[in-house]
Amino acid sequence: MEQDVDLSFEALLTRAGQANPAHVGLIMDGNGRWAQARGLSRAAGHEAGLKAFRAILNASATFGVPILTVYAFSSENWQRPAQEVQAIMALFVDYLQDYRHEFLEQDCRFVVTGRRENLAPQIQDLIALAEQETRHCKSRLLNLAVSYGGRQELTDAMRALGRKIAAGDLDPEAIDVAMISENLYLGALPDPDLIIRTSGEHRLSGFLLWQSAYSEFLFHDALWPDFTPPMFHDSLEQYRGRDRRFGQVADAS
Ligand code: FPP
Repeated sequence: MEQDVDLSFEALLTRAGQANPAHVGLIMDGNGRWAQARGLSRAAGHEAGLKAFRAILNASATFGVPILTVYAFSSENWQRPAQEVQAIMALFVDYLQDYRHEFLEQDCRFVVTGRRENLAPQIQDLIALAEQETRHCKSRLLNLAVSYGGRQELTDAMRALGRKIAAGDLDPEAIDVAMISENLYLGALPDPDLIIRTSGEHRLSGFLLWQSAYSEFLFHDALWPDFTPPMFHDSLEQYRGRDRRFGQVADAS
């Protein structure tokens, strides 16, 4: 599924603080365990997760990180109990209804990546509205990964290219890395520089599989609702200490 997202992100890239990551991906894991430890429902855990997310989104402005992609609901999350899926969907509705104005206040563009056609019409409409209203925002970008899976995204990209080949519009030999990137849901979005996962788990779970080829990774033991702006700040500091070589040697002279 190709989305109508046509934006030069160059202006955003220049907004990253010195040596800061321009694009951070967040795998917000641990809401369930956080709730369980307190004898609360999983829904309450996701509610606390939303609160933590809002604090990090605000902190990203303060810390000079212009692009955030957050893994809010994976393709596999549809297999969770219906009650939990409903609770998460209700949070999306509340969030988009209640906080949409904050995007405009913060000049933050809002986009969604994933198979949005699987979402309820009400949520699709709210997403379309938020995307439309914030199209002109240039200071920051929030990319919500919803009903998202990296394998599904690559499958959809391959289908799109396959259709062009079948129609005689594309020579298979012309397919290169750039063309595959362009056929992802948000082809123009730069790859994430840093991916942070909370809750002590060390895996990607399908998050940005193609785009993370040269991302830096940081894993936190804190459960997502306990992840705070100072921890985020600390992650950025650690990132600045990384030596990114992209497969090349440090000093080629
Ligand atoms: C993973 O924790 C978290 C999710 C599947 C949902 C994340 C959703 C939110 C934080 C709400 C965000 C909403 C918006 C609008 C951004 P888990 O449930 O897998 O935790 P566990 O591994 O401890 O069970």
